[in-house]
Amino acid sequence: MPVVMPIYGTRPEAIKMAPIVAALKASDHFACVVTVTGQHREMLDQVNELFGITPDHDLDILYPGQSLSDILTRTISGLDKLFAVSKPDVVVVQGDTTTSTAAAIAAFYAGIPVVHAEAGLRSHNLFSPYPEEANRKITTQIASLHLAPTSTSKQNLLNEGVKAEDIVVTGNTVIDALLTTVGKKIPFIDPALEELAASGQKILLVTTHRRENQGETMRGVGRALARIADSHPDMVIVLPVHKNPVVREAVLPAIAGKTNVMVTEPLAYGEFTRMISMSHIVLTDSGGVQEEAPSLGIPVLVMRDNTERPEAVVAGSVKLIGAGEERIVHEVNRLLADSAYFQSMAMAVNPYGDGQAAERTVAAIAGLLGIGARVKDFSS
Ligand code: UD1
Ligand code: UDP
Repeated sequence: MPVVMPIYGTRPEAIKMAPIVAALKASDHFACVVTVTGQHREMLDQVNELFGITPDHDLDILYPGQSLSDILTRTISGLDKLFAVSKPDVVVVQGDTTTSTAAAIAAFYAGIPVVHAEAGLRSHNLFSPYPEEANRKITTQIASLHLAPTSTSKQNLLNEGVKAEDIVVTGNTVIDALLTTVGKKIPFIDPALEELAASGQKILLVTTHRRENQGETMRGVGRALARIADSHPDMVIVLPVHKNPVVREAVLPAIAGKTNVMVTEPLAYGEFTRMISMSHIVLTDSGGVQEEAPSLGIPVLVMRDNTERPEAVVAGSVKLIGAGEERIVHEVNRLLADSAYFQSMAMAVNPYGDGQAAERTVAAIAGLLGIGARVKDFSS
């Protein structure tokens, strides 16, 4: 039986890989061997625990202040050793983190075919997001099978010369993950969040972590949140803050002591998706959140100048606002003041998937291995 090895290392990869792991384990055609790099630790383990995944191999590479090259080299050398004793028939990587590109390189060097899930996203700016745009382009060069979430991402790959027969449009497995959790109304561990849910207060949900926003720009995000909190005492700002100390040092000082700002540890995925669904507005620089909130009909203000996820921007539920302090304050105020404008953004759109992406992924892997027919492309 062919051995398929999903390899992942961070929270968003874990969330998007979990449905693929479940579908592989449910299949009679494959043995699924899960390898994690541990690029993230707590935030990775939190997701694996929720989805009941116990990795078969853990490279445990994280150390505080890790550089991009640390992640790359520790992943490649760890996988090199692993492949010497346990060589899978196929490796699956997800998205654009340094774990995913390092794993693709290690597999390619070991002569193992690489399946790239969430292939073909492009901002068309090599430095934004950094280093993710470069990571995903590198992975494209060495993958054998490209699983594009949408027809736009497929077109990006075709434009770069990838052969049509090597691309399958699967949808994004984030929607599979979302649909399995969001209906469950998972209880919040923190009683203060359960009280907030019961209060019915307006919520502005915020996440920030992007490397290119760190430093002075992110301090400005903190100042913008402080000003919004002061001018809207009736609204609660919820900030599940990333584990990165660089993020915490930048964003937290300005909002310290604000009674209507709730800073939490990273929420478990089920709690976080419930929090999205309770929110009035989402303000974020995250990739995954740009895909989830639109499908729940929550307006999203994205603190970036560009996006590799243009579909929900075109549909009208996501707006790119940059990460400048003044613009953030202005855009949040506008959504709060203008109900017609708010309504125009608060519609549920689902360009990213139908919940069947993991099934298509597994069928596409079977096709790659010559044990299944070509999969029909997802279209929204
Ligand atoms: C990484 C990815 C980014 C992705 C993001 C998701 C790269 C280069 N970046 O960025 O594409 O959007 O994850 O969140 O691959 N830390 C912990 N515990 C954790 C997680 C992080 O302590 O569970 C701390 C460590 O001090 C670490 C720092 O956060 O050094 C940064 O983590 P890192 O994975 O290097 O970068 P992210 O900004 O998380
Ligand atoms: N997320 C979570 N808990 C949180 C914040 C985010 O489970 O406290 C989830 C979110 O639903 C999304 C993913 O983490 O699926 C996004 O991760 P992140 O923003 O760290 O990375 P990106 O998507 O930008 O690569």
